[in-house]
Amino acid sequence: MKALLAAAEKFGTPLYVYEEERLAAALAWWKRALPGFAAHYALKANANPALLALIRREGFCADAVSPLEVEAALRAGFLPKAITFTAHAPSSEDLAAVHASGVEITVDSLQAIERLARVAPGARVGLRVNLGIGAGHHGHVVTGGRGVKFGIPREEVADAITLVSSKGLELAGLHQHIGSGILDPKPFIDGAEALLEVAAPLARSLAFLDFGGGFGIPYRPEETALDLMALGEELGKRVNAWRGEHGGKAVMRMQPGRVLVASSGSLLTRVIEVKRSDGATFVATDTGAHHLVRPMLYGAWHAIENVSRPQAPQVQVTVTGQLCESGDVLAAERMLPLPLAGDLLAIRDAGAYGFSMASTYNLRARPAEVLLGDRGAELIRPRESPESLLG
Ligand SMILES: Cc1ncc(COP(=O)(O)O)c(C=O)c1O
Repeated sequence: MKALLAAAEKFGTPLYVYEEERLAAALAWWKRALPGFAAHYALKANANPALLALIRREGFCADAVSPLEVEAALRAGFLPKAITFTAHAPSSEDLAAVHASGVEITVDSLQAIERLARVAPGARVGLRVNLGIGAGHHGHVVTGGRGVKFGIPREEVADAITLVSSKGLELAGLHQHIGSGILDPKPFIDGAEALLEVAAPLARSLAFLDFGGGFGIPYRPEETALDLMALGEELGKRVNAWRGEHGGKAVMRMQPGRVLVASSGSLLTRVIEVKRSDGATFVATDTGAHHLVRPMLYGAWHAIENVSRPQAPQVQVTVTGQLCESGDVLAAERMLPLPLAGDLLAIRDAGAYGFSMASTYNLRARPAEVLLGDRGAELIRPRESPESLLG
C-alpha cells in the first residue's frame, strides 16, 4: 500500500501501476501448468513495451491482431517467427505489411485467403475456424459458436483448405479462439476436442494447432480461479493421444492474454469529491470509463480499495468516473471504507484490457504507467500530453 501511495504521489493520478512480482508469478504459473503448449501472449490485453520485454524474457512468444501490434512485438524483441498474427478482417495493406515483416498470418475468412494470395503469393497461412463452441464472461467477448463474426464456419473449412492450395498458398495450421474471461474448464476441453477432430486428417502436414486464449481470472471474491494445472493435464492427455493416433509434428500453441497480466495491474485514482444525491453516496474520481472501460462495457466487477483510509467505517457508495455519461460507473453500490476528497483508490485486476482499451474521450489524456519492481517505481509510459490531444 505504501508503494502505491508513493507512486501516486510521485507520478500523479490517474496512474496504471503494475507489480512485477505478480506478473512474474502469473507467468511462472502458466509455464508450470501448460508446458506442452507454446504460449503466444496476446498483446491486445496490454502492449506496454516494458511488460512485453518481461514476458519475452520469460520465454513467451507473441500474438498480434494489427500491424502495429506486430511492430510493438518486434520492438520488444520477439523474433518474427515467434509472432502470430490473428487479426479479424485484415485489409490487403495489413496483410502485405505483416507478411513483409516475416510474421506468419492466420486468416478467418475465405475472402481473406484470396486477399493474402494476391499480396503474398506462396505464403504459409493458418486458418481460424469456428467449430460451434463459444464462451466468455460477457456476450461481447464470445468469439465462437453461432452468430459471431469470427472464424471460418465448420461447414466451410474443407472449402477453405481447398482454396488455400488452389491459390498457391501453403496451409500451416489451424486456430480457434472461443472467447475471453472463461473460468469453466469445459469449453476449453470441448473446443480442443473439436479442433483436434477437424485437424486429424491433416495431422501429418500441419505445422501448428493453436487453441487460442480466453483463460479467465476471478475478479470477484466469490469466483473460483480456473484450475490451470488440471486443465493443462486434461488438454495434454488429449493432445498426446491425438499425436499417438495421427502422428505429425504439429506444435501446439495457445494465446493467453488476460490470465498473464490482469492481476498485476491496478488503476490508481484520486477522489475528487463525495456527493450525496437522492439517498446515494457518489464517490467521484479523476478517472473513469475512458481509462478502464470494462465496468461500463461489460458490467465488469473490479475490487476497489481505499488505499489512503483502509480503516475508515464501511459505507455503501457508488464510485463514478469523470466522463459526461451516466453509465460511467466504476462500482455500483459497493461497500468501501468511506472515502474523502483526496483519498487514493486502487482499482484492482486492471492489468488486462485496461490501458489497452483506454481512450481520450472527453479530451482527457490517458494515464501514465509505472512498473513496481526491485528497482522501485519506474515510469514505463509517460502520461499522454494534452498537446497531442489537441492535434
Ligand atoms: C485471437 C485471440 N487470441 C487471444 C486472445 C486473448 O484472450 P484472453 O485475454 O481472454 O486470453 C483474444 C482475445 O480476445 C483473441 O481474440
